[in-house]
Amino acid sequence: MRYDFDSPPSRAGTDSLKFDFAAERGRPADILPLWVADMDFPAPQEVLDAIHNCAKHGIFGYTDPKADYFEILSAWFADRFGYAIRPEWVDITPGVVVALALAVKAYTKPGDWVLIQSPVYYPFREVIADNDRQIAANSLVPVDGVYQIDFADFEEQIVRYGVKLFLLCSPQNPTGRVWTREELLRMGEICAQHGVVIVSDEIHCDFVWNNAHTVLPTLSAELAERTVLCTSPAKTFNLAGLQVSNIIIQNALLRAKFKKQVDAMGYSQMSSVGLAATKAAYAHGGDWLAQLREYLTDNLTFLRSFLREHIPQIRLIEPQGTYLAWLDCRDLDLSEQELADLITNKAGLWLDSGTMFGPEGAGFQRMNFACPRGTLEKALRRLKNAVDR
Ligand SMILES: Cc1ncc(COP(=O)(O)O)c(C=O)c1O
Repeated sequence: MRYDFDSPPSRAGTDSLKFDFAAERGRPADILPLWVADMDFPAPQEVLDAIHNCAKHGIFGYTDPKADYFEILSAWFADRFGYAIRPEWVDITPGVVVALALAVKAYTKPGDWVLIQSPVYYPFREVIADNDRQIAANSLVPVDGVYQIDFADFEEQIVRYGVKLFLLCSPQNPTGRVWTREELLRMGEICAQHGVVIVSDEIHCDFVWNNAHTVLPTLSAELAERTVLCTSPAKTFNLAGLQVSNIIIQNALLRAKFKKQVDAMGYSQMSSVGLAATKAAYAHGGDWLAQLREYLTDNLTFLRSFLREHIPQIRLIEPQGTYLAWLDCRDLDLSEQELADLITNKAGLWLDSGTMFGPEGAGFQRMNFACPRGTLEKALRRLKNAVDR
């Protein structure tokens, strides 16, 4: 079937975090939201059918994944990334951020330092600080519009702070970097030298525009043994509200430590609707995803040329992956407060301010382009008018 991404139903009035919380979060009521990372599109028809079937049946008792769940999951990753997953490697958690927090508890003690690369998706910092650990930040360095890793500093942070855990974001949110095999191998080697466990958050793996995405444990047996791989159908199929993620840990010892934390929080059975939706998505969502990726690629083309033509003061950091655009607004020469005022009050846009992702984000804004073209165009016209004024 052909999907229409131009005219999805309105999300207003659905208790949507993106659309229905302007007042609660101190924004004007008529603000256009392009912030939190979910999409404005319904999930694939097969997923909707699976959820309708659950509703028609009407009983939402406890459920558990059977062999077919793991077969479907493994087939998706094997076909797309050359990574076959054994059922015993998989732990299910109600979200990737939950898994990041559990990993912090499983592999470090209060007071320990945990490595991140900044700017980064803000819960990376929160799960470390909220669990009374300390943040070691390896700043990513923009070189000609492409963020690069300072490997000397990466190792220096590990050595200086005795780091034993690294939270990797791959593809990277917010910079949109898709790490190359060489970059991943080099980070992996340094981590191996110093006995660092790597949590690889690959939730954006199905949205890669230029390079190919590399699933970290496919790089070497050594890396597979020190990696906690976080995957989820939430971004790929727009199912964040169903709260399912699959955490894959090959190393039995690391898996036991992680499982202990899952048990300690009292989590056992996954959501029944989430289970049905996840199976349908990974089994049948490929065609929808192919169409969606085409649509998002066109959105990105539109965004790129609009900025070049009409708002050259704002530079797009070309996303190699993710549906999040990292906008370099530093040429506008505004203070953080003035920039926030321009975006929120003058343009009437709800974006994520760059500093939420770390101090390196000063002068940047993150824009979610997983919306209908008409919404994107409206947002960009508002932004142009505000900048022109
Ligand atoms: C890198 C990254 N990890 C995790 C999440 C959220 O995952 P979940 O909703 O499963 O906790 C997001 C959402 O934007 C993200 O960008």
